[in-house]
Amino acid sequence: MGMEKNISLGDYLYSPELLKRLDFGKSPAKFNPKITAANPGENWMIVRPLRRSDFDKGFLQLLAQLTTVGNVSKSEFNERFTQMQQSGGYYVTVIEDTRYSRIIGAATLTVEQKFIHNCSLRGRLEDVVVNDTYRGKQLGKLIVVTVSLLAQEVGCYKMSLDCKDKLVKFYETLGYTLEAGNSNAMNMRFEEPS
Ligand SMILES: CC(C)(COP(=O)(O)OP(=O)(O)OC[C@H]1O[C@@H](n2cnc3c(N)ncnc32)[C@H](O)[C@@H]1OP(=O)(O)O)[C@@H](O)C(=O)NCCC(=O)NCCS
Repeated sequence: MGMEKNISLGDYLYSPELLKRLDFGKSPAKFNPKITAANPGENWMIVRPLRRSDFDKGFLQLLAQLTTVGNVSKSEFNERFTQMQQSGGYYVTVIEDTRYSRIIGAATLTVEQKFIHNCSLRGRLEDVVVNDTYRGKQLGKLIVVTVSLLAQEVGCYKMSLDCKDKLVKFYETLGYTLEAGNSNAMNMRFEEPS
């Protein structure tokens, strides 16, 4: 972490160089045909950090397939983008179909800084979504494995996620496990974000 925010990122949320270093051989996920973040299998597809310009490439419309997004204006989007970029620890990662300049997949790694475990870092997998017309083509696997390897690359000692029951099997094939006695996701709900 840290280092990346000092170099010029332009409109990237984090350094795209990080994605080139990932070793897909480390993941238990099985890809057939073989694809990676650096080589996603089609020349019109690219896996990269979120960019400011993705506001105009349907990024929020894609997130709306996951949950409520609300009416986020361009300036609100830009403000949040700047906050995430300056804070560090936000690795929003997307897949673009460059033929149409559309964002077709996304997943986020957030990095939590801790005092415990010798000032460790813990990764959390958030906001995984693939555009419905592109599902079933390994892109869900690709984006999740990408941010999971990224968590290891930036020094996290573990990566955690919450998911719907029906997705447990999907995440198990990617290396995630339900830990006995320690798999209860609980929430306290406050008012709906306005
Ligand atoms: C979950 C999601 C990201 C998967 O994307 P995808 O591109 O279709 O996934 P893949 O093609 O990589 O599929 C990987 C495997 O998971 C399985 N899978 C995918 N979605 C599934 C679902 N909703 N229920 C059960 N299994 C599912 C596929 O059958 C596939 O298995 P296979 O490799 O044995 O054929 C996508 O369905 C999605 O965006 N759903 C809506 C948002 C959502 O639920 N996000 C996850 C929140 S935890």
